[in-house]
Formats: sequence, C-alpha cells, structure tokens
Amino acid sequence: MKKNIIITIDGPAGSGKSSTAKLLASMLGFVYLDTGAMYRSVALAALDAGVDLKNEKAVEQIAGSVEIDFINDHGENRVFLNGQDVALRIREPKIDSASSLVSSYKVVREKMVDFQREFGTKGNIVAEGRDMGTVVFPDADLKIFLVADLQTRARRRCLQLKNAGIETSLDEQTSSLSSRDLFDSNRELSPLKKADDAIEINTSNISLNEQVQKIYNIVFRRLNL
Ligand code: DC
Repeated sequence: MKKNIIITIDGPAGSGKSSTAKLLASMLGFVYLDTGAMYRSVALAALDAGVDLKNEKAVEQIAGSVEIDFINDHGENRVFLNGQDVALRIREPKIDSASSLVSSYKVVREKMVDFQREFGTKGNIVAEGRDMGTVVFPDADLKIFLVADLQTRARRRCLQLKNAGIETSLDEQTSSLSSRDLFDSNRELSPLKKADDAIEINTSNISLNEQVQKIYNIVFRRLNL
C-alpha cells in the first residue's frame, strides 16, 4: 500500500466531519487529524491569557508559543494544549465563534498549516477542517466535502452539546452555525470552499454509519487499497 495516504474531509460546522473522519480513520487504521481542534486550542489559550481576540498581533503571539498535541488514548482522541488535556474545554460554545475569529488571522493559519502538513508526512491520515482539500493538502489522494441543511446541523449540534452536559436551544445553535459559516466562507484567507476535485456528500438524510460506509466504499474504489 502507498505510504502517507491523505484523505481530506471539509465542510461547514455540524455537517458531520468530525464523527465521520474519526470513524473512517479507525476503520482504515489511519490517523485522524482534527484541525478545528487546533484553532479552538489557540482561541482557548488566548482567552485564558486574557488576550482581546480582536488584537490580531497578540493572538498571533499566542499561536506562536502554544504547544498542541494529539494523543490517541484507547480510541479516545485527546487534545493537549501546553501539556493540559483540553478536549472538553475547546468544545464549549464560547469557543465556536472565538476559534472562527482567530482562524482568520494570517500568522495563526501559517503556524497551524505547518503543523498540519508535518503531521501529513508521518503516515496515513484522515484530515478534517475547512481548507484541507483546497489549501493544506491540494494533492490529497481523496477529497470529500460534506454538506447538510442548517436545521439538521443545528439539531446535531444541540444533541452533541446535550451529551456533553451543555444545555442550549435550537434557535441559538441555528443562528450560531449560520453566522460562523458566513464568516468562515467569506474570510480572505483559505475560506471554507469545496475543492474542484472533491466529492460532495449531503448528510442531511443519512445516518453516520451510512455516510461513513459511503466514503469507505469510495476509498476502496478510488484508491485500490
Ligand atoms: O471544525 P470546528 O468547528 O472545530 O472548527 C472551529 C473553527 O476553526 C471554524 O469555525 C473555522 C476554523 N477552522 C479553519 O479555519 N480551518 C480549518 N481547517 C478548521 C477549522
């Protein structure tokens, strides 16, 4: 089998990227790369340091000094920020818009992209985010773009947060997702965009298992594994 196979999964918030990428990576024995977790970690570090997120220079300094590690602990993906497990803290709702804002800064993106590309040299990966297929890994072996209607995505997000013990409302999530998508899609640098050669899958009316199986079949058809 070819070494360093890269499968990218991009799409808007709540389209099912994380669950899909995680499951697909484990079925294939690939490593899962959650790039949103990196921007979330930078946002959390900035907030913990009391930095005004609108202060681009200060946020860039934070991005340059943080250490982010991914550790797979018995199938659980743990995210470490400067040695602290922040897997739960980075999922708090206030980090949604904060990570979206810091991800629009040039130096922040450069640092994260370097780390992501380095990660891609270490083995077979499933990388998920917004610009995996367009900017970070333009030569990826397979590119998937997930979409789902806003209502479905908001419902999923509510459920995820409920499972994490956070109460929220459908209205709140609908407005938070739509404003974040608008910002992520219209920013100047590496906006959320389907790569020309990506395969689009609408996940609105299919289950997680169905969407993963669909991609799994495409992987075997396309990549001759
Ligand atoms: O996938 P997520 O919701 O965890 O991502 C959080 C934010 O990070 C998202 O609103 C935009 C940004 N992001 C990005 O700009 N590029 C990526 N590759 C991944 C995430």
